[in-house]
Amino acid sequence: MPSDSYFFAQPHFLRIAGLNRLEVISLLDKADSYVEQSRRRQKTSDRLQGLTQINLFFEPSTRTQSSFEIAGKRLGLDVINMPIGSSSVSKGETLLDTAVTLNAMHPDLLVVRHGASGAAELLSQKVDCAVINAGDGTHEHPTQALLDALAIRRTLGDLDGLRVAICGDIAHSRVARSNVALLNLLNVEVRLCGPPTLLPSDADRWGAEVFHNMDEAVADCDVVMVLRLQSERMDSAAIPSKREYFRFYGLDRNRLSHAKPGALVMHPGPMNRGVEIASDIADDLSISLVTKQVEMGVAVRMAVLDMLATARNEAI
Ligand code: CP
Repeated sequence: MPSDSYFFAQPHFLRIAGLNRLEVISLLDKADSYVEQSRRRQKTSDRLQGLTQINLFFEPSTRTQSSFEIAGKRLGLDVINMPIGSSSVSKGETLLDTAVTLNAMHPDLLVVRHGASGAAELLSQKVDCAVINAGDGTHEHPTQALLDALAIRRTLGDLDGLRVAICGDIAHSRVARSNVALLNLLNVEVRLCGPPTLLPSDADRWGAEVFHNMDEAVADCDVVMVLRLQSERMDSAAIPSKREYFRFYGLDRNRLSHAKPGALVMHPGPMNRGVEIASDIADDLSISLVTKQVEMGVAVRMAVLDMLATARNEAI
């Protein structure tokens, strides 16, 4: 069981931007200890017994929602998944009315995914419990960045001085924003790469070097992180065709050969095989961290739930 000598005193977990290095390292250290708990036969503890967690996902999710549910249950929380499709949202109830209604039932932790950037922050101003951002529009996905960093740290050791290329649909990616912010805190050199139509106009101010040529972007990198084309967030065709996109921006063996020998490959999922990544790379466990990222997701979310519940308890 981890000690409580970690430093994280935030009331909510809404974004990586604004956190400091000590807070991030504390979360990673705590998550590290929870990896072992998840590998045991007996996986649950009573650490947060008696507290209630509500998962409120307005956008589809496989990894994030299920890992938050598993994380809460492994800490002894009572976990409720709100089925949005059959909730009163379908009768026109607003996000805020939904949150205020759930708040009246005295949850301790509210995990929110929503298509609007800033939705989690808005809710945090209306409820009494701790709010966790599980992805808000194109803004941030802070637990994804934490789990990505933990997966790298457990594979390569210290992140200090590593070079990481984040490639693909940067413009619509909350994962990219959270990762750049977190990797900058850990002294990682970050590169962003994608076609001009899929790079935000302010990308050069994110704290990363911007590339349009993927071979150049991955050159001498320790890690290549590939992102999904988020067609659901595009209002016009940003690429001529998926086939052409793969030709210029898909990660295959030939392209990966420009990176450092043994360079790691990451993808937050869900993957579009043959669009942004070749299957043989995604499935090569000697270089692909894709399933390790998923495993780290449970541990990271246990750490975030624990840190918030502990900080909240100490503040009362
Ligand atoms: N990486 C991620 O957020 O995946 P899900 O959409 O499946 O939660």
